[in-house]
Amino acid sequence: MAMSDLVQSSKSGEIGILTVNNPPVNALSPGVPEGILAGVEAFGKDDGVKAIVLIGGGRTFIAGADIKEFGKMTSGQTRRGPGFNEILNTVEKSSKPVVAAIHGTAFGGGLETAMACHYRVAVADALVGQPEVKLGIIPGAAGTQRLPRLAGIQKAVEMCAGGDPVKAADALKAGILDQIVEGDLLAGAIAFAKTKIGQAPRRTRDLTDKLGTAEANAPVFAAARDAARKRARNVLAPQAAIDAVEAATKLPFDQGIAREAELFQKCLFSDQSKSMIHVFFGEREVAKIPDIGKDIQLIPVNKVAVIGAGTMGGGIAMNFANAGIPVLIKETDQAALDRGMNTIKKNYANSVAKGRFTQAQMDERMARITPQLTYDGFDKVDMIVEAVFEGMELKKKIFGEIDKIAKPGAILASNTSTLNINEIASATKRPQFVIGTHFFSPANVMRLLELVRGAATSKEVIATCMAISKKIGKIGVLVGNCWGFVGNRMFGPYRREAQYLALEGAKVADIDKALYEWGMAMGPLATGDLAGLDVGWRIRKELALAGKSTGEPTVEDLLCELGRYGQKTGAGWYKYEKGDRTPHPDPEVAKIIKDTAAELGVPQKTFTDSEILRRLLFSSVNEACRILEEGKAYRASDIDVMWLHGFGFPRYRGGLMYWADGIGVKEVYAQIANWHQQYGARWAPSRLLRELAESGTPFREAKPAPFN
Ligand code: 3HC
Ligand code: NAI
Repeated sequence: MAMSDLVQSSKSGEIGILTVNNPPVNALSPGVPEGILAGVEAFGKDDGVKAIVLIGGGRTFIAGADIKEFGKMTSGQTRRGPGFNEILNTVEKSSKPVVAAIHGTAFGGGLETAMACHYRVAVADALVGQPEVKLGIIPGAAGTQRLPRLAGIQKAVEMCAGGDPVKAADALKAGILDQIVEGDLLAGAIAFAKTKIGQAPRRTRDLTDKLGTAEANAPVFAAARDAARKRARNVLAPQAAIDAVEAATKLPFDQGIAREAELFQKCLFSDQSKSMIHVFFGEREVAKIPDIGKDIQLIPVNKVAVIGAGTMGGGIAMNFANAGIPVLIKETDQAALDRGMNTIKKNYANSVAKGRFTQAQMDERMARITPQLTYDGFDKVDMIVEAVFEGMELKKKIFGEIDKIAKPGAILASNTSTLNINEIASATKRPQFVIGTHFFSPANVMRLLELVRGAATSKEVIATCMAISKKIGKIGVLVGNCWGFVGNRMFGPYRREAQYLALEGAKVADIDKALYEWGMAMGPLATGDLAGLDVGWRIRKELALAGKSTGEPTVEDLLCELGRYGQKTGAGWYKYEKGDRTPHPDPEVAKIIKDTAAELGVPQKTFTDSEILRRLLFSSVNEACRILEEGKAYRASDIDVMWLHGFGFPRYRGGLMYWADGIGVKEVYAQIANWHQQYGARWAPSRLLRELAESGTPFREAKPAPFN
C-alpha cells in the first residue's frame, strides 16, 4: 500500500513497515514527517498490525531536518509550522510499539524521530548524533529533552553541545539504542518488534530515572559550559544546547520542549547559524568540479611515498599513515631523516598523551611509515608527494628522477607553495600525472588541501586527489596554477598589512589580539612565528634575485637576519620560553619596529580593533576578487572554505567573502579605494571588486572568469 512518494508502507505479517525514501540522505523535507505520521496513524487503525518498524530506504536512516529549509524559514519564505514536535508526540503516543531501525546516520531530527519511537535497533556501523551545533543551532524536535531521559545528563550534554557522532556500540551502552542487529537490519527489527507485541510501549518522555538531582547535575553543567567556551569560543549554540538540556532536568517534558523551541528559534535566526549553514553547503559545493563528472575513473591509491622529511613532509606522511595507507619517506642524509622521524614520533606521542588515540594505535601508525635514504620501492607506489626545499631547480631535478622510477599511472605531486606546476611537470614525460598538493602547515592538523591543476593534469588525477583528500580527513579545493596559488595569494596581503600596521604604530600583541578576539584561531604575527618567518624570507629573497621583489615592509626580514625565525628558534615577533608555545611580547622587537619606522619616516598612530581587522581582511578580499577575475578559483564559497580550513577563520562568520558580504560590497570598495589614495599601489582595487560595487552584486554572486 503506497502512502506517499516519500514514505512507503508495507507489511510483514503483523508488523507494519514504514520506509522513508527521500534520497540522498532521507532528510525530513516537507512531506516526510507528514508521511510518517500518516503511516503510524493508518497502522494504528489496522487491526492486522500489532507493531510498527520505521526504517530508511537507501544509504541511511534519516540524516536530520532538511537544512535547505532553514534558509527559507529565516528569510520568511516558509513558516516553521507547529508541526514536527506534534507529529513526534503522536508517534510516541501510538498504542502499538514503534521500533526505529537505524543504519547509516541517525542525525539531528533523525535521531529525534528515533527517540520518539518506543525502541531503537541499529546495525553495528550506524552512527547517531545531534550535530545541530555545527550548524549554529540546537536540536529543535525534543532532542535536548528525550536524549537525557535515555542517556543521562552527561552524555546528552556531550552530544548536544559537542555535536560529534556516537558509534552504535557506545549508543547501546548509553541507553540510546536497545539492540545491535547482526545481519539484515529489517529482519532484525521485525524480530525485535515481535517481542514487543502486546506490551505497553515504553515512551521516552515518561522516563525520569536518568535525569539526576540538581546537586549532582550542577557540576556537570558547569564543566560543560566551561569546556564549550574553550572549544567553541564566541559561539552561542553550544551554550544554548546546554541550557536546553538543563531545562529537561528542571521542567516537565512539554515545558522543556517549549524552552528548547525558544532557544532553537534564537539560534536559528542568529547570524552565526546563517553563516554556519552557508559553510555546510560551501563545503559540499567545493567538491564539485564543473568539468569532472562522477563517472571519472579513480586511480587506486594504496601505497604512497613522500620526498623530504622536513616540516611538511613529516606531517604529510602522518596524514597517509593515519588513514591506513603505508608511506615511504625519503631524505638526503641520515641526520635529517632521524630528525624528521623523531618529530613524527613526538607529534604522535603528544596525541597519545592527550588521549586522542592509544599507544597501540600510535605504534601501528609509526609502523606504516618507512624511513629511507634511497628511492627503493618508489617503483611500486601509487602516488609520490615531493616536499623538499622550495626551489625550481631542485624540484625539477627531483621530478626528472621520479619520472624515471615511478610506475606508469602513478600520481606525481608537489607540495610547492608558490612554484609553477607546469614548469615542474615539464621535467617529466607525463605532465598529465603531475599535480600540486599544497598542504597547509601544520600538515597533519590543518584540513585544507589546495590542489593545483596544471595545464595537462588529467581529470582522473584530479578526481583521485579530491577523493584522497576526503580519505585522509582533508578538504580538497581545486585551484588554478599561479604564483602562490590561491591560499597564499590571499594570506600574503593579510600578513603584509599586519606588518604595515606594526610599522604605523600598532603594538604586535594588539594586532594579534584584535584578530583572535574576533574569532581567528591565531593572530597573523603569532601565525608567522608558528609557521616559520624564514619561509617567506627565503621566498622574498628568491623574488628579489629574480628582480620581482614585492617591496614589502622589512621587519620580518630584519627579524630573520637576526636569526629570529619564530617558535622554532625561540624568538620571532615574540619571544618564547623553552618548550612553551606561549608568545611573550619582546621589547627588542618593539625597538626594531620603531627604528625601522623612523628610518622610513612612517608616521605613528593608534588603531581600533575594527580598523586592524578591516585593514587585514579587506586586503585579502581585494586579492580574492583578483583571483576570481583571473579564473583561478571556481567560486567565492571555495574561498570561504579555504579560509576556514587553512587559516583558522571562525566558522560562525562564514568565511572571508561571506563576511565581506555582511559589510556590503560598496562599503568594502569605498574603503579600499580610499586606502589606495592613502597608501598607493598595493591597495589598487581589483577590476572585479569595482564592477561588483558598481552593480551592487554581492561577492557570493561574483562570476569568476573561466577557470584556467
Ligand atoms: N538536509 C539537506 N541536505 C542534506 C542534508 C540535510 N540534513 N544532509 C546532507 N544533505 C545533502 C548534501 O548537501 C549533499 O547534497 P549534494 O550532493 O547536492 O551536495 C548530499 O546530501 C550528500 O551529503 P554529503 O556529501 O555530506 O554525503 P556524506 O555521505 O559525506 O555525508 C551525512 C552524509 C553524514 C548525512 C552528512 O551529509 C551530514 O552530516 N549531513 C548533515 C546532518 C545534520 O547536520 N543533521 C542535522 C540537521 S539539523 C536538524 O536536524 C534540526 C532538528 O533538530 C530539528
Ligand atoms: P623543510 O626545510 O622543513 O624540509 C625540506 C626537507 O627536504 C629537508 O629535510 C631536506 O633535507 C629535504 N630534502 C632536500 N632535498 C631532498 C632530496 N633530494 N631528497 C629527499 N629529501 C630532500 O621545508 P618545508 O617547510 O617542509 O617545505 C617543503 C616544501 O613544502 C616546500 O616546497 C615549501 O614551499 C612547501 N610548504 C611549506 C610550508 C611551511 O609552512 N613550511 C607550507 C606549505 C608548503
